[in-house]
Amino acid sequence: MFKKTSTTSGYRDPEVLVGLDLGTSKITVVVAERDGPAGEAQIIGMGQAPSHGIRKGMIVHLDQAARAVRQAVGDAENMVGLELSEVTVSFSGGEVRSVRSKGMISLGRSPRAVKQLDIARVIEAAQADVSVPANQMILHTIPVEYSLDGNSGIDDPLGMNGMRLDIDLESVIVPSATVQNVYNCVENAGLSVTGFVIKPLASALGALTPEESVAGAVSVDIGGGTCGVAVFADGRPKHLAVVPVGGDHITNDVASVLKIPINKAEEIKKEVDLFSPETLEHTEKLEFDHNGRNYSYSLSELTEIVQCRVEELFTVLVKKEVGASGVSMLPAGLVITGGGSRSIGIDQYLSRVMDMPVRAALPIDSNRMPPGRNGPEYTCASGIIKYALEQERDPFRYMEQSLDLLKGQSRGSAAQSGSRDYDAGSQEPARREGSIFQSIKDVFKELF
Ligand SMILES: Nc1ncnc2c1ncn2[C@@H]1O[C@H](COP(=O)(O)OP(=O)(O)OP(=O)(O)O)[C@@H](O)[C@H]1O
Ligand SMILES: [Mg+2]
Repeated sequence: MFKKTSTTSGYRDPEVLVGLDLGTSKITVVVAERDGPAGEAQIIGMGQAPSHGIRKGMIVHLDQAARAVRQAVGDAENMVGLELSEVTVSFSGGEVRSVRSKGMISLGRSPRAVKQLDIARVIEAAQADVSVPANQMILHTIPVEYSLDGNSGIDDPLGMNGMRLDIDLESVIVPSATVQNVYNCVENAGLSVTGFVIKPLASALGALTPEESVAGAVSVDIGGGTCGVAVFADGRPKHLAVVPVGGDHITNDVASVLKIPINKAEEIKKEVDLFSPETLEHTEKLEFDHNGRNYSYSLSELTEIVQCRVEELFTVLVKKEVGASGVSMLPAGLVITGGGSRSIGIDQYLSRVMDMPVRAALPIDSNRMPPGRNGPEYTCASGIIKYALEQERDPFRYMEQSLDLLKGQSRGSAAQSGSRDYDAGSQEPARREGSIFQSIKDVFKELF
């Protein structure tokens, strides 16, 4: 299951884990090495390339995106001196839905210890209630909460005694075509996909401290084209969503208000404090030269437009996702990360409009990441490694769809039919309960 990687001499090293984050602005490859057989992993390299062929987190040009992936992989390979061959991929894009369902099984007339097979059965029972529209697939199946004999809040029922096991399950449903395109893109770049993780989950794992994820927090990764939202409580994800608005929308607002090119608007966005309450009241003018012309604009007008955009993003779109999580108490508040969280004063601004504590987070492993590649835009990439490790420790935590469904349309066949014409959406995946149960069976095969 793990990300085997080979040195240039062909030696395969199961101790190396590789993650690939397909971002709208940049593609990142993270390489980590395990400290020991069951230990943590240390990030040993981060490769990067500007993103091409990806818009709002979604692949819009397969060949361009595959070339960008290859470039980022080459950058990482140079840094770590290894040839990378297998990756866990984080992506978003398209419609991502999080659906809650319940399942129950009887353990018998007298109490007995819960076995791994019981957990698989109760997951399957909850899964049977999830209806997946045509051309969509379940990417993750996440146990949110277990109850034993009506006692809720059981973190891990394995080995515990009871007569009845209940589960609340979260299924993350995405368009099959989106997943297939990501799969083909990575395979076309010469890599094998060993797993997928939806971006908001990877970002939350990279950003939240264990205390925050247990107490209750909402993690928002403000990327270029998207915001990944994850509500965590009791150490588990309660809800995951992708909102198709990101930092690039703010840049576009600045460009359209000031009637200037995007690259100039991007510079202004990064340098000017657009979020402090004082800026709104200032009569000060924003002055700059561009192409030999002097521009002068009202700073308060610009600030108002940007603040309106961000206020709507958080008080309407993010709040809607928090509401859908069913978590009413978030004592650890809002944790923002991603490149957009670098905006000057955005944390204090969000604390005012959301009326909750806000922390602008670096990756929790930032002090062990390469200098210059340890900022908030790398939180998601670093979280992929945490995801891979957690999944290895507890295979039932974030179960993934079996990749077998995607293999039929991988590199060879996509190349033959012409990747541009490829329409994975027309491939109706096999019946979902069958395929998720297949992944559970695969887990068992690995365990025994
Ligand atoms: N100093 C800064 N101030 C404000 N915004 C910034 C700053 N630095 C980067 N950004 C913004 O962060 C965004 C890019 O963030 P990031 O690299 O996390 O995105 P991504 O992961 O490629 O995209 P996505 O996750 O949406 O697919 C851009 O909109 C960029 O303008
Ligand atoms: Mg991102």
